[in-house]
Amino acid sequence: MATLNSSLPNSISPSADLRRRFKRKISSCLVSEKSQEKTSSPSISWKAKEIIEMEAKYLVGTYARAPVAIERGNGCRVYDADGREYLDMAAGIAVNSLGHCDPDLVKVLVEQGSNLWHVSNAYYSLPQVELAKRLVECSFSDRVFFTNSGTEANEAAIKFARKFQRHLIAGGEEPATEFISFSNSFHGRTIGSVALTSKEHYRIPFEPVMPGVTFLEYGDIEAAMKTIVSGKTAAVFVEPIQGEGGIYSATKDFLQALRTACDDNGALLIFDEVQCGLGRTGHLWAHEAYGIIPDIMTLAKPLAGGLPIGACLTTERVAEAMNLGDHGSTFAGSPLVCKVALKALGDNPHVKEVRGLGLIVGIELDVSATPLVNACRQSGLLVLTAGKGNVIRLVPPLIISEEELEYAAEVFKKCMPALDAASV
Ligand SMILES: Cc1ncc(COP(=O)(O)O)c(C=O)c1O
Repeated sequence: MATLNSSLPNSISPSADLRRRFKRKISSCLVSEKSQEKTSSPSISWKAKEIIEMEAKYLVGTYARAPVAIERGNGCRVYDADGREYLDMAAGIAVNSLGHCDPDLVKVLVEQGSNLWHVSNAYYSLPQVELAKRLVECSFSDRVFFTNSGTEANEAAIKFARKFQRHLIAGGEEPATEFISFSNSFHGRTIGSVALTSKEHYRIPFEPVMPGVTFLEYGDIEAAMKTIVSGKTAAVFVEPIQGEGGIYSATKDFLQALRTACDDNGALLIFDEVQCGLGRTGHLWAHEAYGIIPDIMTLAKPLAGGLPIGACLTTERVAEAMNLGDHGSTFAGSPLVCKVALKALGDNPHVKEVRGLGLIVGIELDVSATPLVNACRQSGLLVLTAGKGNVIRLVPPLIISEEELEYAAEVFKKCMPALDAASV
């Protein structure tokens, strides 16, 4: 886990550079009405129209879709039914983190797909336990429960929190059962997760949803300190960076106050990193930038690069409240999805942590970095060691281009097996 970086601003701003670049580009794109006419939405072919009409006829009308039928994807580009190309900055709503049809993921998918897809959780399977081990090793957590989506990961977190509170109390006492959530939050569409979702439009039509949820203003420390109450609050659900609600980053003070209030009152702190986790902020976990650790973290979207998966990561203290039969899923943690997730998380189990900012990056390994440094040099890439010789140090010239960085990453990736060869 990355250490607390005291130089970070109070409100974490994931990409000032991206924002600046966009501001510049957007203002240079402010064009006259006349030129806008020329670029107005292109006509749709019969093929696309047919797909849109079939959707309208056969599907339950819950999605406000753009009039585009996507047919294929490659890297960061997708192509519609008329062959039109799009640069995909939506990535299936923060899902396709390695782009579309990444060749390494396709290879694993085909290999595992020819071997075993699904066995149910009545049996053991190696990819599932390997993926859990990998997640535990690179996070605060001790144990993992797999699900098929983000909303299910949050449902698991709700049940874990309720069971944990029940487990804590002596006979005769009432357990804490209530939850705290925040303005602009989004935690999913199932009846527990939607109860924690602030937007009334998503929640009110389905009431009564799970009772006992109090919504507070995101960032209001005083309200949180008053409302997190011993014997009443089971858990606090918070996105360190809110996605669906409008991209709002928590302040460090706010998350720290939640941590303290939860600790003081026996409540669990649950970070929903379904959208902001798994590398999107430049840290593996969004909460690393704040240096504040939750009791439970939920994940989903990019975990298997686009296949359906979710996960609820938790400490031993919480996990030990769950007994056989307390929760389960038919599909969750299938060998096919877990094998692809292992690949999407990155090949090399020797990488313990990636630290740093901008162009000062350290990659900590669980073995000596020397074989990798040597292999890189033999392939024309100069990198350094640091720490106790187990950290790769990348400090390139500040004028390095994106293409050169891409090239360096490729060479680096190809040389990684040198670590395996040296550790046998
Ligand atoms: C923060 C957060 N939590 C939960 C969810 C629900 O995930 P899913 O759509 O996979 O159920 C989402 C989906 O956008 C999300 O952004």
